[in-house]
Amino acid sequence: MDKLKKLLKKSPTLYDAASKTRYNARYLKVRVLGTSVKEKQWATRHLRDGKDLLGPAEGEEDWVGSYWKSKDHPHRILLVETIAQYKPNSVLEVGSNCGPNVYLLAKKFPNAKIVGVDINPLAVERGNDLLRREGFSNAKLICTKADELAQFENKSFDVVFTDAVLIYIGPDKIMNTIKEFTRLAKKGLVFVEWQSPKPDSGLGEYFNGNWIRDYTTLLSNFASKEKIQVRKLLREDWPDERWSTIGAIINCEL
Ligand SMILES: C[S@@+](CC[C@H](N)C(=O)[O-])C[C@H]1O[C@@H](n2cnc3c(N)ncnc32)[C@H](O)[C@@H]1O
Repeated sequence: MDKLKKLLKKSPTLYDAASKTRYNARYLKVRVLGTSVKEKQWATRHLRDGKDLLGPAEGEEDWVGSYWKSKDHPHRILLVETIAQYKPNSVLEVGSNCGPNVYLLAKKFPNAKIVGVDINPLAVERGNDLLRREGFSNAKLICTKADELAQFENKSFDVVFTDAVLIYIGPDKIMNTIKEFTRLAKKGLVFVEWQSPKPDSGLGEYFNGNWIRDYTTLLSNFASKEKIQVRKLLREDWPDERWSTIGAIINCEL
């Protein structure tokens, strides 16, 4: 595979054609198999190359650890501020990884119940360990999928939120996933996701390997439009070309 890559790189035209073919093949796969493709990728991310990494040595960089270390990422300030408007006693993050947002919320609201769920078992295991070491008794992570939240009772959280997760949920699951969030949330939903400028983007358009959609249109199935606010992310919120162009924080009062 590496040899083939090297060979292709010698001819930009061939490399370009091969990249396009690969992208189209991936698109076809997610179109046919739906969200399950991404679910499998995330659920098994720690098993890449056949290695079940039970966490790296102290100080060693790794993908779960890099989320934990990103607690200071500037967009999280905006996210926590937006959630704080609801004065929450309970918050659920769907797709929390090891819990950088859960950590920030547990610190800000020491008397609130903060729960994160994630599809990746290693992220959950290590996150619970890290949260325990920080001494939080009000925060925990659970391993489950975004659309498998039946273990939580109706209206059991003031706020349900996602941060870079719905971009992986395809048109086959997005409506039921959001419907499930509205079953669980009492006061509001907050999403940091890719916001399409096109109101006709429907259940989502495939863009750079993920899903972009107009959340105002989508959420208007569950709340009146005046209760939905979309605030585009700025470069100072997320210093990344893509996120500062199409990223947004979407706040929906229920
Ligand atoms: C880009 S990371 C964002 C993590 C975290 N929200 C943050 O802000 O640091 C996406 C996370 O969503 C999780 N994820 C992806 N698809 C999921 C699904 N269908 N159900 C639950 N978690 C999912 C992944 O395992 C990963 O931890």
